[in-house]
Amino acid sequence: MKKQTLSTINQLVAKGEKFTCLTAYDYTFSKLFNSCGVETLLVGDSLGMTVQGHNSTIPVTVADIAYHTRAVAQGNSTALIIADMPFMSFQTVEEALKNAGTLMQAGAEMVKLEGGAWLADTVTALGRNGVPCCIHMGLTPQSVNKFGGYKVQGRTLDAAEALVADAIALEKAGADFLLLECVPVAVAKKVTEAVSVPVIGIGAGPDTDGQVLVCYDMLGLNLDHNPRFVKNFMIDAPDMATAVQNYVAEVKSGAFPTEAHGYLS
Ligand code: KIV
Repeated sequence: MKKQTLSTINQLVAKGEKFTCLTAYDYTFSKLFNSCGVETLLVGDSLGMTVQGHNSTIPVTVADIAYHTRAVAQGNSTALIIADMPFMSFQTVEEALKNAGTLMQAGAEMVKLEGGAWLADTVTALGRNGVPCCIHMGLTPQSVNKFGGYKVQGRTLDAAEALVADAIALEKAGADFLLLECVPVAVAKKVTEAVSVPVIGIGAGPDTDGQVLVCYDMLGLNLDHNPRFVKNFMIDAPDMATAVQNYVAEVKSGAFPTEAHGYLS
């Protein structure tokens, strides 16, 4: 696979081809995922739970993400690396620019921020400074305390319309990707159709342009909690490389995710 960039991903989406993303936190998994054809790697703040053992992503720092981004970048030659901006690392435009700079210098090629249309100025400022960004919408885990738990978002008509309006505003502000987590299948479809930038889904059904899973979840290593949108690809595979290749093949063919991996309302 040739080196993936913002333009190669946009070309895939323009051709109607689905693209893949997995979280990666270190050199070894980064190399493995490259060899299996995963187009984008997310150094997600889920590492706060999967690697550090916290019960949320809130304790994760910019230094933590920078450390893991450097490790992932060392193993990467083909994927586009997206790094998460942790909790409270982008509350002002100035903070966002400073912290995104740290992550880009660690090896990120795009940063991901959780939020909505209120991030428009931040998105524009990042873009002007050469930092591509992905906005994570729907169930944004950094707001778990505000949501009162990990709950599906966008379930009412008003909430669904707000997601669509936010997506349009963020595209206008210059967002390069959107990511939708745990929203009903029909809402994810509406958002994806409303914008021309690539939309990645997790727990958002089959209609987004790309799919992401936490790598430990799809490798059956999550002993704590398995949400319905997770598929354990190790069940039918003799080794991790085959499991990841099957994930890539199933996302490309549309076999994963099915509606059963999403929420109908
Ligand atoms: O941090 C992470 O792993 C994420 C995914 C759940 C999308 O944001």
